[in-house]
Amino acid sequence: MATIVGSVMTSHVPAIGGAIAKGRQADPYWKPFFDGYPPVHSWLGRVKPDVAVVFFQDHGLNFFLDKLPTFAVGAAAEYPNADEGWGIPTLKTVRGQPDLSWHIIEGLVADEFDITSCQEMKIDHALSLPLALLWPGGGEWPVRVVPITINHVQHPLPSPKRCHKLGESVGRAIRSWKSDARVLVMGTGGLSHQLDGERAGFINKSFDMLCMDALVNDPLKLTRYSAMDIVREAGAQGTEVMAWMAARAAMPGPVRKVHSNYHIPISNTAAGLLVLENEETALSKAA
Ligand code: DHB
Ligand code: FE
Repeated sequence: MATIVGSVMTSHVPAIGGAIAKGRQADPYWKPFFDGYPPVHSWLGRVKPDVAVVFFQDHGLNFFLDKLPTFAVGAAAEYPNADEGWGIPTLKTVRGQPDLSWHIIEGLVADEFDITSCQEMKIDHALSLPLALLWPGGGEWPVRVVPITINHVQHPLPSPKRCHKLGESVGRAIRSWKSDARVLVMGTGGLSHQLDGERAGFINKSFDMLCMDALVNDPLKLTRYSAMDIVREAGAQGTEVMAWMAARAAMPGPVRKVHSNYHIPISNTAAGLLVLENEETALSKAA
Protein backbone atom coordinates (compact mmCIF):
# COMPACT_ATOMS: atom_id res chain seq x y z
CA MET A 1 0.00 0.00 0.00
CA ALA A 2 1.05 3.61 -0.53
CA THR A 3 2.70 5.53 2.31
CA ILE A 4 1.97 9.11 3.33
CA VAL A 5 5.38 10.66 3.92
CA GLY A 6 4.00 13.78 5.56
CA SER A 7 2.36 17.05 4.73
CA VAL A 8 3.44 20.52 3.67
CA MET A 9 1.12 23.49 4.09
CA THR A 10 2.12 26.76 2.45
CA SER A 11 0.71 30.12 1.36
CA HIS A 12 0.38 30.71 -2.40
CA VAL A 13 0.32 34.52 -2.92
CA PRO A 14 0.57 35.27 -6.70
CA ALA A 15 3.34 37.87 -6.20
CA ILE A 16 5.66 34.95 -5.28
CA GLY A 17 5.57 34.00 -8.99
CA GLY A 18 6.86 37.44 -9.95
CA ALA A 19 9.58 37.34 -7.27
CA ILE A 20 10.81 33.94 -8.52
CA ALA A 21 10.78 35.08 -12.18
CA LYS A 22 12.80 38.19 -11.31
CA GLY A 23 15.22 36.38 -8.96
CA ARG A 24 14.24 38.55 -5.97
CA GLN A 25 14.52 35.81 -3.33
CA ALA A 26 17.35 37.63 -1.49
CA ASP A 27 15.69 41.09 -1.53
CA PRO A 28 14.98 42.33 2.02
CA TYR A 29 11.23 42.15 1.37
CA TRP A 30 11.34 38.52 0.19
CA LYS A 31 14.24 36.98 2.13
CA PRO A 32 12.34 36.17 5.37
CA PHE A 33 9.75 34.39 3.24
CA PHE A 34 12.02 32.42 0.89
CA ASP A 35 14.40 31.54 3.77
CA GLY A 36 11.62 29.29 5.07
CA TYR A 37 11.97 26.82 2.20
CA PRO A 38 15.52 25.30 2.19
CA PRO A 39 14.72 23.11 5.25
CA VAL A 40 11.69 21.82 3.29
CA HIS A 41 13.95 21.02 0.33
CA SER A 42 16.24 18.97 2.61
CA TRP A 43 13.29 17.13 4.14
CA LEU A 44 11.81 16.38 0.69
CA GLY A 45 15.23 15.04 -0.34
CA ARG A 46 14.99 12.56 2.54
CA VAL A 47 11.35 11.45 2.20
CA LYS A 48 11.37 11.48 -1.64
CA PRO A 49 7.67 11.69 -2.52
CA ASP A 50 6.52 10.37 -5.91
CA VAL A 51 3.02 11.82 -5.78
CA ALA A 52 1.48 14.91 -4.17
CA VAL A 53 -2.22 15.09 -3.25
CA VAL A 54 -2.91 18.81 -3.05
CA PHE A 55 -5.84 20.52 -1.33
CA PHE A 56 -6.08 24.03 -2.76
CA GLN A 57 -8.57 26.55 -4.16
CA ASP A 58 -9.63 27.47 -7.65
CA HIS A 59 -9.66 31.28 -7.86
CA GLY A 60 -12.04 31.58 -10.83
CA LEU A 61 -9.94 29.70 -13.41
CA ASN A 62 -12.03 26.53 -13.85
CA PHE A 63 -15.10 27.45 -11.85
CA PHE A 64 -16.80 30.79 -11.44
CA LEU A 65 -19.75 32.06 -9.44
CA ASP A 66 -22.22 30.58 -11.93
CA LYS A 67 -21.00 26.99 -11.32
CA LEU A 68 -18.88 26.31 -8.29
CA PRO A 69 -18.39 22.82 -6.87
CA THR A 70 -17.81 22.65 -3.12
CA PHE A 71 -15.14 19.97 -3.64
CA ALA A 72 -13.64 18.94 -7.00
CA VAL A 73 -11.06 16.21 -7.65
CA GLY A 74 -8.87 16.24 -10.76
CA ALA A 75 -8.60 12.95 -12.64
CA ALA A 76 -6.55 14.01 -15.63
CA ALA A 77 -3.24 12.80 -17.04
CA GLU A 78 -1.94 16.36 -16.94
CA TYR A 79 -2.89 19.78 -15.63
CA PRO A 80 -1.76 22.90 -17.53
CA ASN A 81 -0.99 25.99 -15.49
CA ALA A 82 -2.78 29.18 -16.43
CA ASP A 83 -2.70 32.61 -14.86
CA GLU A 84 -6.16 33.87 -14.01
CA GLY A 85 -5.17 37.51 -14.15
CA TRP A 86 -2.15 38.28 -11.94
CA GLY A 87 0.33 38.87 -14.76
CA ILE A 88 2.70 36.15 -13.56
CA PRO A 89 4.59 33.67 -15.78
CA THR A 90 2.92 30.42 -16.71
CA LEU A 91 4.72 27.47 -15.13
CA LYS A 92 5.31 23.92 -16.35
CA THR A 93 2.39 21.56 -16.90
CA VAL A 94 1.87 19.19 -13.97
CA ARG A 95 1.61 15.43 -14.60
CA GLY A 96 -1.38 13.68 -13.00
CA GLN A 97 -1.80 10.29 -11.33
CA PRO A 98 -5.25 9.31 -12.64
CA ASP A 99 -5.34 5.86 -10.98
CA LEU A 100 -4.92 7.48 -7.56
CA SER A 101 -7.40 10.21 -8.51
CA TRP A 102 -10.08 7.62 -9.30
CA HIS A 103 -9.26 5.63 -6.17
CA ILE A 104 -9.72 8.82 -4.11
CA ILE A 105 -12.96 9.65 -5.97
CA GLU A 106 -14.29 6.12 -5.30
CA GLY A 107 -13.40 6.48 -1.61
CA LEU A 108 -14.97 9.93 -1.28
CA VAL A 109 -18.23 8.86 -2.93
CA ALA A 110 -18.34 5.71 -0.77
CA ASP A 111 -17.95 8.06 2.21
CA GLU A 112 -20.97 10.05 0.93
CA PHE A 113 -19.10 13.09 -0.42
CA ASP A 114 -20.90 14.48 -3.48
CA ILE A 115 -17.78 15.63 -5.27
CA THR A 116 -17.21 16.80 -8.83
CA SER A 117 -14.69 14.70 -10.77
CA CYS A 118 -12.76 16.63 -13.42
CA GLN A 119 -11.07 14.89 -16.33
CA GLU A 120 -9.86 18.30 -17.44
CA MET A 121 -8.56 20.88 -15.01
CA LYS A 122 -6.25 23.85 -15.24
CA ILE A 123 -4.27 24.78 -12.17
CA ASP A 124 -3.79 28.33 -10.95
CA HIS A 125 -1.21 29.96 -8.66
CA ALA A 126 -2.63 28.05 -5.69
CA LEU A 127 -1.07 24.84 -6.98
CA SER A 128 1.72 25.96 -9.31
CA LEU A 129 3.46 28.33 -6.86
CA PRO A 130 3.59 25.85 -3.95
CA LEU A 131 5.23 23.38 -6.37
CA ALA A 132 7.70 26.08 -7.44
CA LEU A 133 8.50 26.82 -3.79
CA LEU A 134 9.03 23.14 -2.92
CA TRP A 135 10.93 22.17 -6.10
CA PRO A 136 12.73 25.27 -7.39
CA GLY A 137 15.00 23.33 -9.80
CA GLY A 138 14.51 22.97 -13.55
CA GLY A 139 13.17 20.02 -15.53
CA GLU A 140 9.85 18.28 -15.00
CA TRP A 141 8.12 18.51 -11.63
CA PRO A 142 9.44 15.52 -9.64
CA VAL A 143 5.96 14.54 -8.42
CA ARG A 144 2.71 13.55 -10.08
CA VAL A 145 -0.26 15.37 -8.65
CA VAL A 146 -3.86 14.77 -7.59
CA PRO A 147 -5.50 18.21 -7.27
CA ILE A 148 -8.48 18.67 -4.93
CA THR A 149 -10.20 22.05 -4.80
CA ILE A 150 -12.21 23.45 -1.89
CA ASN A 151 -14.66 26.29 -2.56
CA HIS A 152 -13.50 29.42 -0.72
CA VAL A 153 -15.17 31.84 -3.15
CA GLN A 154 -18.95 31.47 -3.16
CA HIS A 155 -20.89 31.20 0.10
CA PRO A 156 -22.06 28.96 1.63
CA LEU A 157 -18.57 27.54 2.10
CA PRO A 158 -18.02 24.05 3.48
CA SER A 159 -17.45 23.96 7.23
CA PRO A 160 -14.02 23.30 8.74
CA LYS A 161 -15.49 20.06 10.12
CA ARG A 162 -16.49 18.95 6.62
CA CYS A 163 -13.03 19.82 5.27
CA HIS A 164 -11.48 17.79 8.10
CA LYS A 165 -13.68 14.82 7.16
CA LEU A 166 -12.74 15.28 3.51
CA GLY A 167 -9.08 15.05 4.47
CA GLU A 168 -9.70 11.96 6.61
CA SER A 169 -11.43 10.22 3.71
CA VAL A 170 -8.68 11.17 1.25
CA GLY A 171 -6.04 9.95 3.73
CA ARG A 172 -7.80 6.57 4.01
CA ALA A 173 -7.94 6.30 0.22
CA ILE A 174 -4.24 7.09 -0.15
CA ARG A 175 -3.28 4.51 2.46
CA SER A 176 -5.45 1.84 0.75
CA TRP A 177 -4.06 2.55 -2.74
CA LYS A 178 -2.29 -0.55 -4.06
CA SER A 179 1.01 1.05 -4.90
CA ASP A 180 4.42 1.38 -3.30
CA ALA A 181 4.35 5.13 -3.97
CA ARG A 182 5.35 7.70 -1.38
CA VAL A 183 2.65 10.32 -1.16
CA LEU A 184 3.00 13.88 0.09
CA VAL A 185 -0.18 15.66 1.17
CA MET A 186 -0.24 19.40 0.62
CA GLY A 187 -2.59 22.19 1.73
CA THR A 188 -2.20 25.63 0.16
CA GLY A 189 -3.46 29.14 0.84
CA GLY A 190 -3.84 31.26 3.94
CA LEU A 191 -3.00 32.22 6.42
CA SER A 192 -5.07 35.24 7.46
CA HIS A 193 -5.85 37.69 4.65
CA GLN A 194 -8.64 39.68 3.12
CA LEU A 195 -8.21 41.14 -0.35
CA ASP A 196 -11.20 43.44 -0.62
CA GLY A 197 -14.06 45.15 1.19
CA GLU A 198 -13.92 47.20 4.39
CA ARG A 199 -11.38 44.90 6.02
CA ALA A 200 -8.99 44.71 3.02
CA GLY A 201 -5.50 44.10 4.42
CA PHE A 202 -6.83 42.39 7.56
CA ILE A 203 -4.31 40.03 9.19
CA ASN A 204 -4.72 38.23 12.54
CA LYS A 205 -1.41 36.92 13.83
CA SER A 206 -2.79 35.47 17.06
CA PHE A 207 -5.39 33.40 15.17
CA ASP A 208 -2.73 32.24 12.68
CA MET A 209 -0.58 31.08 15.62
CA LEU A 210 -3.56 29.27 17.12
CA CYS A 211 -4.12 27.48 13.78
CA MET A 212 -0.48 26.54 13.31
CA ASP A 213 -0.36 25.09 16.81
CA ALA A 214 -3.71 23.29 16.53
CA LEU A 215 -2.75 21.74 13.18
CA VAL A 216 0.16 20.04 14.92
CA ASN A 217 -1.30 19.22 18.33
CA ASP A 218 -5.10 19.35 18.25
CA PRO A 219 -6.60 19.47 14.73
CA LEU A 220 -10.12 18.77 16.03
CA LYS A 221 -10.04 22.14 17.81
CA LEU A 222 -10.40 23.86 14.41
CA THR A 223 -13.47 21.78 13.52
CA ARG A 224 -15.38 23.63 16.24
CA TYR A 225 -15.23 26.86 14.21
CA SER A 226 -17.88 27.58 11.56
CA ALA A 227 -16.85 28.86 8.13
CA MET A 228 -18.13 32.32 9.17
CA ASP A 229 -16.04 32.14 12.36
CA ILE A 230 -13.01 31.63 10.11
CA VAL A 231 -14.03 34.61 7.95
CA ARG A 232 -14.24 36.73 11.11
CA GLU A 233 -10.96 35.50 12.60
CA ALA A 234 -8.83 35.09 9.46
CA GLY A 235 -10.43 37.36 6.85
CA ALA A 236 -12.60 36.50 3.85
CA GLN A 237 -9.75 34.75 2.01
CA GLY A 238 -8.24 33.40 5.23
CA THR A 239 -10.80 30.63 4.79
CA GLU A 240 -8.11 29.04 2.60
CA VAL A 241 -6.78 27.60 5.86
CA MET A 242 -9.44 24.91 5.41
CA ALA A 243 -7.14 23.33 2.80
CA TRP A 244 -4.48 23.09 5.54
CA MET A 245 -7.07 21.42 7.80
CA ALA A 246 -7.91 18.85 5.12
CA ALA A 247 -4.22 18.08 4.57
CA ARG A 248 -3.68 17.62 8.31
CA ALA A 249 -6.68 15.33 8.63
CA ALA A 250 -5.25 13.03 5.94
CA MET A 251 -2.57 12.12 8.52
CA PRO A 252 -4.35 10.63 11.53
CA GLY A 253 -2.54 10.14 14.79
CA PRO A 254 0.21 12.14 16.39
CA VAL A 255 2.42 14.14 14.08
CA ARG A 256 5.77 15.79 14.56
CA LYS A 257 6.42 19.34 13.40
CA VAL A 258 9.43 19.12 11.09
CA HIS A 259 9.58 22.82 10.26
CA SER A 260 7.54 26.02 10.20
CA ASN A 261 7.86 29.62 9.12
CA TYR A 262 5.59 32.67 9.43
CA HIS A 263 6.11 36.10 7.94
CA ILE A 264 3.90 39.22 7.70
CA PRO A 265 3.12 40.49 5.15
CA ILE A 266 3.63 39.02 1.72
CA SER A 267 1.39 41.21 -0.39
CA ASN A 268 -1.85 41.26 1.67
CA THR A 269 -1.25 37.93 3.32
CA ALA A 270 0.27 36.45 6.46
CA ALA A 271 2.55 33.88 4.83
CA GLY A 272 2.74 30.56 6.65
CA LEU A 273 4.62 27.32 6.12
CA LEU A 274 4.27 24.09 8.07
CA VAL A 275 5.83 20.66 7.51
CA LEU A 276 4.50 17.66 9.43
CA GLU A 277 5.35 13.99 9.50
CA ASN A 278 3.68 11.09 11.19
CA GLU A 279 5.54 10.11 14.36
CA GLU A 280 5.25 6.38 13.74
CA THR A 281 6.03 6.22 10.04
CA ALA A 282 8.67 8.97 9.91
CA LEU A 283 10.61 8.04 6.79
CA SER A 284 13.04 10.90 7.20
CA LYS A 285 14.47 9.27 10.35
CA ALA A 286 15.05 5.92 8.64
CA ALA A 287 16.61 7.52 5.57
C1 DHB B 1 -3.15 37.26 -2.50
C2 DHB B 1 -3.29 36.11 -1.70
C3 DHB B 1 -3.96 35.00 -2.18
O1 DHB B 1 -4.16 33.86 -1.47
C4 DHB B 1 -4.47 35.00 -3.48
O2 DHB B 1 -5.05 33.88 -3.94
C5 DHB B 1 -4.35 36.14 -4.27
C6 DHB B 1 -3.69 37.27 -3.78
C7 DHB B 1 -2.39 38.46 -2.01
O3 DHB B 1 -2.12 38.59 -0.80
O4 DHB B 1 -2.04 39.31 -2.85
FE1 FE C 1 -5.55 32.49 -2.57
